[in-house]
Amino acid sequence: MRLDKYLAHANFGSRKEVRELIKSGRVTVGGKTVKDRKLKVKVEDEVRVDGFTVVLEEYMYFMLNKPQNVISATESFEHETVIDLIDHPQYRELFPVGRLDIDTTGLLIITNDGKLSHQLLSPKKEVFKTYYCKLKHDVSKSDITFLETGIPLKDFTTKPAKVEVIEEDEVLLSISEGKFHQVKRMFKYLNNEVLELKRVKFGNLVLDETLEAGEYRRLTEDELTDLKKII
Ligand code: URA
Repeated sequence: MRLDKYLAHANFGSRKEVRELIKSGRVTVGGKTVKDRKLKVKVEDEVRVDGFTVVLEEYMYFMLNKPQNVISATESFEHETVIDLIDHPQYRELFPVGRLDIDTTGLLIITNDGKLSHQLLSPKKEVFKTYYCKLKHDVSKSDITFLETGIPLKDFTTKPAKVEVIEEDEVLLSISEGKFHQVKRMFKYLNNEVLELKRVKFGNLVLDETLEAGEYRRLTEDELTDLKKII
């Protein structure tokens, strides 16, 4: 593949931008500075930009511990996005699987695999997502029954949720849907308020608690295999 095409594939910019990059002497192939954009490069060649090795990948899967004040989008003029947190030459291909509110933290899958994302989010697949919820008030037995049966929100009634009580004002809530502000709306209906919301599980994928907010890592082969089993 031609060097300029290779770098464009690796998302170093448009063909024109990539040409400038090469012209300015920032690109090396096999340790030598190359200014010929037509140079043919092979996959096994070591291409570097500003000293960083260019890696081309077909599919990428990351687990991010989303921090607060970052939005689950690919681009924004106003806020930092979850994609801004990922340091990868092909970051332009990446997107989050679903959304978490700006003040919600925790597990977000970041990938460029549209098919996997589509299936994980498909209402037909009913993939459960588990949220740690810190609440303003204690939850009652009747609240739990409501959550486990279905909450009649304005536009729809929620599907039965699973509830695990940690403390009277702390629960793990698992829901198979993902409507806008769903967890917050469910507790609002119960005259309660979510003070802290953190997603800890997506299907069978568990948030790696060693990841600090804002940190991410690749999914392991096993995690990816297990995730694909549920869809
Ligand atoms: N439910 C919410 O209310 N917010 C989220 O970010 C996720 C689920």
